[in-house]
Amino acid sequence: MQKLLITLAALCLVVSCQFNYNEGISKNLAGFAVQAYCNNTSIPLNNCGAPCNQNPKGLQNFLEVKNTTTSTRAILGYSPDNDAIIISFRGTVDLNNWGADLSAAWYNYPNLSCTGNCQVHTGFFTNYQSIISQLKSNFLVLKANYPSAKVYLTGHSLGAALATLSLPDIYSWNGNKQLDAVYHFESPRAANQAFANWLRASNFSVYYGRITHGYDPVVQNPTSWWPLYYYHTHFEVFYLNFNNQPKLCPQAEDTTCGAQSIYTAFNPADHMNLFNWDLSAAGSLCS
Ligand SMILES: *[C@@H]1O[C@H](CO)[C@@H](O)[C@H](O)[C@H]1NC(C)=O
Ligand SMILES: *[C@@H]1O[C@H](CO)[C@@H](O)[C@H](O)[C@H]1NC(C)=O
Ligand SMILES: *[C@@H]1O[C@H](CO)[C@@H](O)[C@H](O)[C@H]1NC(C)=O
Ligand SMILES: *[C@@H]1O[C@H](CO)[C@@H](O)[C@H](O)[C@H]1NC(C)=O
Ligand SMILES: *[C@@H]1O[C@H](CO)[C@@H](O)[C@H](O)[C@H]1NC(C)=O
Repeated sequence: MQKLLITLAALCLVVSCQFNYNEGISKNLAGFAVQAYCNNTSIPLNNCGAPCNQNPKGLQNFLEVKNTTTSTRAILGYSPDNDAIIISFRGTVDLNNWGADLSAAWYNYPNLSCTGNCQVHTGFFTNYQSIISQLKSNFLVLKANYPSAKVYLTGHSLGAALATLSLPDIYSWNGNKQLDAVYHFESPRAANQAFANWLRASNFSVYYGRITHGYDPVVQNPTSWWPLYYYHTHFEVFYLNFNNQPKLCPQAEDTTCGAQSIYTAFNPADHMNLFNWDLSAAGSLCS
């Protein structure tokens, strides 16, 4: 397994920050982000090929959180390879149609510690709310069973947006203790700038990164300009391709990172590639 640790000290606009990217943890979490698309019976068997081989011991104490009405799903479990509790949100099963039936209108974020008109994506937040009580009880089961384990959070696509929205709650269920890693992949925007600033300043996780790849159009939606003014929440780790080192962009919105694609060409296939694994074959990956 290729391991790469990059440290970048940078002055951020909102807070002074040091941005550490741990590619080893990121790749392990990408494996679990893919696995959230696999069906129930195949997950404990850990038989999805390369993504599953990232974490050969799979998930113990596997738990599934699911709402069929909203098609929202997360998988949880304890990973012996990482000595961590894993929470991984699934994207939409129809990955190319993730936004079609979800409202991008604003929803007032209910946590009062987020001040200054914090707003989130109504569709994503509604989906998240539809599993929040199951998520909490299952997370607390794992916390009780593995009290000293680390806590890792991930997701791909819509699942990445759900991971972002769940982060403040998981932090609170974790006893207001920092998570150990939050790496998510090809996320659409999930909130406005007030929420993004709050999330960033709250420093809810030791490692945090928003991994993007190539010219993925999903990462540019909903748009950051009129009339929506959506805003990404955190640092970007941009892979032009997965054969070279990523570019680390400490600003939440940086036109020299993945956002460069708005000035060139979109390539939807880039959304379906994580570390050179072909997610368009995700269903068959898990058989
Ligand atoms: C679920 O996985 C099993 C093998 O573990 C496979 O036989 C079955 O076809 C899968 N079902 C779906 C709906 O993908
Ligand atoms: C999936 O597995 C979990 C954990 O083993 C279980 O609670 C849940 O009922 C299963 N769901 C289905 C649809 O089989
Ligand atoms: C699933 O989501 C729907 C719509 O938000 C909600 O009415 C329902 O109570 C949820 N089901 C469960 C089991 O939480
Ligand atoms: C609001 O977020 C904070 C983290 O900043 C958390 O500790 C607190 O429990 C949250 N409050 C509610 C009501 O969810
Ligand atoms: C965020 O948390 C990390 C790890 O605990 C710490 O090293 C860093 O100083 C914190 N950053 C800020 C701005 O508080």
